[in-house]
Amino acid sequence: MCGIVGAVSQRNIVPILIQGLQRLEYRGYDSCGVAVHQGGQLRRSRSTSRVAELDALVAQDGVEGLVGIAHTRWATHGAPAVHNAHPHFSHGPGDDAKSAKAGRIALVHNGIIENHDELRAELKARGYEFTSQTDTEVIAHLIDSIYEGDLFDAVQRAIVQLKGAYAIAVFCRDEPQRVVGAREGSPLVLGVGQGENFLASDAMALAGVTDQIVFLEEGDVVDLQQGKYWISARQAEGRFARIERPVKTVHAHSGAAELGPYRHYMQKEIFEQPRAIADTLEGIEAITPALFGDQAAEIFAQIDRVLILACGTSSYSGLTAKYWLESIAKIPCAVEIASEYRYRESVPDPRTLVITISQSGETADTLAALKHARSLGMPHTLTICNVATSAMVRECKLAFITHAGVEIGVASTKAFTTQLVALFLLTLVLAKQRGSIPEAGLDAGLRNLRHLPAAVQSVLALEPQIMAFAEAFAGKHNALFLGRGRHYPIALEGALKLKEISYIHAEAYPAGELKHGPLALVDAEMPVVTIAPADDLLEKLKSNMQEVRARGGQLFVFADADTRIESSEGIHVIRMPEHYGALSPILHVVPLQMLAYHTACARGTDVDKPRNLAKSVTVE
Ligand code: M6R
Repeated sequence: MCGIVGAVSQRNIVPILIQGLQRLEYRGYDSCGVAVHQGGQLRRSRSTSRVAELDALVAQDGVEGLVGIAHTRWATHGAPAVHNAHPHFSHGPGDDAKSAKAGRIALVHNGIIENHDELRAELKARGYEFTSQTDTEVIAHLIDSIYEGDLFDAVQRAIVQLKGAYAIAVFCRDEPQRVVGAREGSPLVLGVGQGENFLASDAMALAGVTDQIVFLEEGDVVDLQQGKYWISARQAEGRFARIERPVKTVHAHSGAAELGPYRHYMQKEIFEQPRAIADTLEGIEAITPALFGDQAAEIFAQIDRVLILACGTSSYSGLTAKYWLESIAKIPCAVEIASEYRYRESVPDPRTLVITISQSGETADTLAALKHARSLGMPHTLTICNVATSAMVRECKLAFITHAGVEIGVASTKAFTTQLVALFLLTLVLAKQRGSIPEAGLDAGLRNLRHLPAAVQSVLALEPQIMAFAEAFAGKHNALFLGRGRHYPIALEGALKLKEISYIHAEAYPAGELKHGPLALVDAEMPVVTIAPADDLLEKLKSNMQEVRARGGQLFVFADADTRIESSEGIHVIRMPEHYGALSPILHVVPLQMLAYHTACARGTDVDKPRNLAKSVTVE
């Protein structure tokens, strides 16, 4: 998704801006650009190609400077095209919008401005010329229309007129010494260097440049100059007051992890799962609330129910946890899609533990849902998150950091399985506290968690057989995924993986629901992926499989060794290890990840950067 980098230095900052964009590339984008202050003018290069091409373009255009901003754009308003790519320049009355150097204000923006239509109409009436379809261009023009020689002041006066979410970085032709940033609803950090300062939408963009990071808060405006910076915080009625924010040392990982022997990051990340799970469990000796934060014991004593808020894959880990929390910890649990919850009327209970689950910790819908839950009077918040420095971790009272490591493939894999590990630990902690599990059950739970890396490894060894399944899927247009009980969310996750990277339409159903409608879709062309653990629903599932076979459907079954399900006509079986009890969903998702991956490879799609998608969804 969109990424911002900005810099003020005594050296040419273009290489820093380009490297910053490269570190954010994995998140997905469709155009990119750089602008600098050069020779008393604004200069820019923009491209609908990759950042590597932008790098070549800036060299060709001779773009360099001591002050500049850069951006990767994921289109929301206006098609992916050069004229919509950021940075945008203001074109006030008298400016020649067609000149590459024209304009006074240069600006990049993440987020969405909701009142852009009204602002555009007002600015047009005042003689401003628009060259893009973006909501962003109105901000550049608005700042220009207010500007009276002090950019910091103009930005403060402009942003109080904006409705929506934004992180912006701006500089001005007439003030070559400064870059100004502001945020509301989208992340922005300040990087403090030696005689130079930086802005970025994620500290990762500044890895190798500075590890001294200030996390700007909602409503902050920051003024960056070569050896100094100021932050002001928005007060009531559009006023601003100077504020100090702590500088933190952040060892951000570079996004540019080595691929090693793998073809794609997704494949690498699937195979990293044993390590990621082991790292997430590292140092855990006992089942104790302290695993979730210093205040966890006190907070867990005050809750009667759980509300999980998340999006996409993270919501499916939440859905799996619902089965664990209700059956093992005996605590009621609701799981809500964050983008729905934030806008619906619900009945809050202050004795709820509100849990957000997020790989990135920056998902706009999940952050908004969290704030909504808090505003309804539910103060007990916990996040399960893969990024310790993210907004989600800062916003929640309690946190469990999964140690999946940087996940680059847009399709989430190791983040999901490590989230499940964290959620199972939480289940054990709450079960112990509520007296719903015997001591022996806790010991067995922890033992099984510790054995998971080895168990996942044995599932990864099934890759050659899964590749054979993938060959059969590559020519299909539709697929169904069936699971029951705690494996139904795993069917949902398998279907999501297949559709997002192979572009095959896939739907998941609880197997018992087939006969209530979806069975009408089943014919010889419909592959039906079936998750078959040897659990207490096995006999029911076998009946559901017969319903599919009776209509000529082809079953592709991942069956635990102890199910005794054998391959026969129309039933293709891959044998999993023996049933792994409550943790079985963690094993069963792995072959579905591999099936989606190899199907996508067979279809020749862009596995790590599937069309239309972004890794971190920081807009609504
Ligand atoms: O970073 P988050 O976990 O909050 O992201 C949520 C979803 O956007 C994410 O899981 C998405 O569904 C993935 N592309 C799925 O593979």
